[in-house]
Amino acid sequence: MPDLDTRARAILARNDRGGYTVPTAGLYPYQWNWDSVFAAMGFAEHDLPRAWAEIETLFSGQWANGMVPHILFHKVDPSYFPGPDVWGGTGPLPSSGISQPPIAATFIRALYERDRPAGEAHVRALVPKLCDWHRWFFDWRGEDGAICVSHPWETGRDNTPDWDAPFAAIQPEGIDDYARRDTSHVAEDERPRSYDYDRYLYLVKIGRESRWDEAHIKSASPFRVADPTMTFTLLRANRDLLALCQAMGEPNCEIESWITALAAGSEHLWNPDIGSYDCLDIRTGRHSGVISNASHLAWYAGVGGDRMLGHYDRIMGAVRFGMPSTDPGHHAYEPRRYWRGPVWAMMNWLIAIGLAEAGHAARAEALRRNTADVIATGGFAEYFDPRDGSPAGGRDFTWTAATWLAWAS
Ligand code: DGY
Repeated sequence: MPDLDTRARAILARNDRGGYTVPTAGLYPYQWNWDSVFAAMGFAEHDLPRAWAEIETLFSGQWANGMVPHILFHKVDPSYFPGPDVWGGTGPLPSSGISQPPIAATFIRALYERDRPAGEAHVRALVPKLCDWHRWFFDWRGEDGAICVSHPWETGRDNTPDWDAPFAAIQPEGIDDYARRDTSHVAEDERPRSYDYDRYLYLVKIGRESRWDEAHIKSASPFRVADPTMTFTLLRANRDLLALCQAMGEPNCEIESWITALAAGSEHLWNPDIGSYDCLDIRTGRHSGVISNASHLAWYAGVGGDRMLGHYDRIMGAVRFGMPSTDPGHHAYEPRRYWRGPVWAMMNWLIAIGLAEAGHAARAEALRRNTADVIATGGFAEYFDPRDGSPAGGRDFTWTAATWLAWAS
């Protein structure tokens, strides 16, 4: 059998559609936002120009209001639902109408640091686009410095128990009949339930019917939840964006004000009842009470000192493979169901970046080795069972291959 490096590079090559990469054929046949950023980091190991192309194709879908969509439908593929017609995106390319965790600035900075002369023109062109995107988050997703989502898919953590309470309050009325495609690619018990899908589609309907009018969505949608993935990745991304501006000789005080606001806003995600960062439902003022892998991104954002360390050590000590997407001690933990328990390699990478920067080099290295081990055990799956590392979800997955090449190997 070819070694893991060779297999990982072959997955990137197979999922390459020319200028962009699909997460995996069949289940996810389009360009996804943060998947593409990880893909770029995988390509950067052997083909830096291809890495820059991935990012530039992603930004070619940026909307006039600054939003960078979570899916770009470059070529229609019936193996996926919901497609471009259901979304009715209003950008320059067929797209969804929501965004995804803004990790691009952080990894654009990493690409630039690999080869500054080769990166400079790319960075100069991308910085204004990144500023517009980050401003969009402030304009439409900001709540007192914490960043909200208008749809669970915006966080990437589609069916985390964080949404259980806000979803219970939603009556998904008036959605058209639909046929899911995801469960024809992946076992049903590894995917969200139909209950969740009804609500996903209801929220898409609210957006589409308003023609993605953010002012309407902000005031009228029943779903508005402040989330650690978005808040922490945007805080981190703004620090990296500021560094890129400085490297280009263009200091930017707007970004400095965003950093201050986000650092203060992170505090709203601190739930003293469980001693952890979690989600805050803006409609009810209630915390979710869920310790997720996103809670452990506080180090990546550079906030909270070692507040999460006790939970980190407890949870890593409770599983063979970490970091589970939901605390195994939580009543809603399901070790194989998507974001309700499984391990995600690329989340581990982000957590480890933060741990290393916060002076926890040994924990960061242990997490890297544990991630390498889970990939060696389960292959390049979308996610893994924390109990035995068995593969779950999609296979031959771009971001797992990229995470292997750029970090875990
Ligand atoms: C899906 O279809 O499962 C995706 O996560 C949406 O982004």
